[in-house]
Amino acid sequence: MGLNPRTPGSRPEPKEEVLKDFEELAGKLPWSDPLKVWKINTNFKKKKTKRKKINQNTGKEKINNGQGDKIDETDGKKGFTNNTLDSHILDYYENPAIKEEISTLVGDDLASYKDEKDESSKEETHPKMLKFRVTCNRAGEKHCFSSNEAARDFGGAVQDYFKWKADMTNFDVEVLLNIHDSEIVVGIALTEESLHRRNITHFGPTTLRSTLAYGMLRLCAPQPTDIIVDPMCGTGAIPIEGATEWSNCYHIAGDNNPLAVDRAANNISSLLTKSQIKEGEVSWGLPIDAVQWDICNLPLRTGTVDIIVTDMPFGKRMGSKKRNWNLYPACLREMSRVCRPGTGRAALLTQDKKCFTKALSGMGHVWRKVHTVWVNIGGLHAAVYLLKRTPQAFVHPSEQDGERTPW
Ligand SMILES: C[S@@+](CC[C@H](N)C(=O)[O-])C[C@H]1O[C@@H](n2cnc3c(N)ncnc32)[C@H](O)[C@@H]1O
Repeated sequence: MGLNPRTPGSRPEPKEEVLKDFEELAGKLPWSDPLKVWKINTNFKKKKTKRKKINQNTGKEKINNGQGDKIDETDGKKGFTNNTLDSHILDYYENPAIKEEISTLVGDDLASYKDEKDESSKEETHPKMLKFRVTCNRAGEKHCFSSNEAARDFGGAVQDYFKWKADMTNFDVEVLLNIHDSEIVVGIALTEESLHRRNITHFGPTTLRSTLAYGMLRLCAPQPTDIIVDPMCGTGAIPIEGATEWSNCYHIAGDNNPLAVDRAANNISSLLTKSQIKEGEVSWGLPIDAVQWDICNLPLRTGTVDIIVTDMPFGKRMGSKKRNWNLYPACLREMSRVCRPGTGRAALLTQDKKCFTKALSGMGHVWRKVHTVWVNIGGLHAAVYLLKRTPQAFVHPSEQDGERTPW
């Protein structure tokens, strides 16, 4: 749910007036569709849990009914049952009966939860009163209100509007109030725990959030069979997210620090184990490799990479701003060599925007800037630059001198 109402943080309004805006916002939002999605998601989760419980009980019954001389066979069946449970869960979204149920739910005229609550007498059982909480995430410096104040006033208005009960710990609905400078995005959480650490088990000093890694990859619109490289992978958050979500592409993770490569390899290994457990006995592996290399001299052939997605050293916790003045131009040059002219693209994250912009300005013949997305990384104002490789062929300085690299 995106909106851009009167902008509470953009001008020096009295605090009371700004907080009043938050109160008024609750009644103006189009809640209906996001709540439908929330309901479908909640029903899915309930059904999943129910199926799991039924299956666990079935497994237990089988064990209890088994005869002493049939123990091996019963155990075998138990194993089979558990594996089929997982495949049932995986097939869940493909089940025609479930699909029908989704369309019925979507087709329901749920004008809003408010309307539905009024018709509660039609329900078979008494619906319980929904409990909710508002979580405010705020970035930007010029706000005259605190996150707590925004959540409190907006939450109060949500409570009045829906007649829900506020509960900070035992809530059914979590309303997210995300404020970035003068922009507000209101959403409904669909997961109880944050997904930003999914798939990462071995952390490093600058591990990127999986959610941001996903967003960066998505910006590049990966296509089946694309070769996607993170040449400064650290713990491998980007290629690991890539291998999970775009498994029809091939992902290469590289870093010059052997510790980072080890962490990435360990993360890949954990993911592999997890996918083996999920899939049962047979696993087809993951389309990903980890390598130690130097970004300035990649062991990759010229024009063979479709997409580069990387999180460059900011020069704060990793590297130094001074070193970036040499590193960034060298990175952009080598990336332009390996990236396919005409179709190649890159999403590069950095907080050292000044250095990046300067380096990019000297590379206009090979890289065209398509878009900049501003992101907040733990309070640092960073940017993701989406670049497109121009059709111009790469000419290596060594080729001009008659020397050639072996790749
Ligand atoms: C900001 S961190 C990347 C963090 C990573 N996205 C993660 O999730 O862990 C930048 C990485 O660049 C690597 N790096 C710095 N200079 C490099 C170079 N010349 N070649 C390859 N990697 C380099 C560092 O070792 C570091 O792991």
